[in-house]
Amino acid sequence: IAVVNFKGGSGKTTTAAHLAQHLALTGHRVLAIDLDPQASLSALHGFQPELDGNPSLYDAIRYDEKRRSIADVILPTNFPLLDIIPANLELQEYEFDTPLS
Ligand SMILES: Nc1ncnc2c1ncn2[C@@H]1O[C@H](COP(=O)(O)OP(=O)(O)OP(=O)(O)O)[C@@H](O)[C@H]1O
Ligand SMILES: [Mg+2]
Repeated sequence: IAVVNFKGGSGKTTTAAHLAQHLALTGHRVLAIDLDPQASLSALHGFQPELDGNPSLYDAIRYDEKRRSIADVILPTNFPLLDIIPANLELQEYEFDTPLS
């Protein structure tokens, strides 16, 4: 399930967070993937890769030799059954790098 809207402040992060938490609380195994460099969904679950040293999605998709397996960037949240791949600001740079590569 993707939560997307071109308009800012339209409730994307709130919808994604509540959807992920609701599905987890009703017994589904959920992986929330934060694709937004703003990383509010990650911060909401207590992850700030820039500050806490946790990995982010960027580590699994970067082009250089430091790329890690996607399994290495999945982190457990405080919600049972809900895991998250956090985002960070490097994803913004990645968006510009990609068409150039
Ligand atoms: N259903 C709702 N009813 C009332 N307020 C809401 C609702 N959903 C979200 N909000 C509020 O609207 C504001 C923007 O929500 P949110 O941050 O989820 O939007 P966003 O689309 O992710 O924004 P951004 O474009 O900055 O990423 C927040 O203050 C949030 O609490
Ligand atoms: Mg948002």
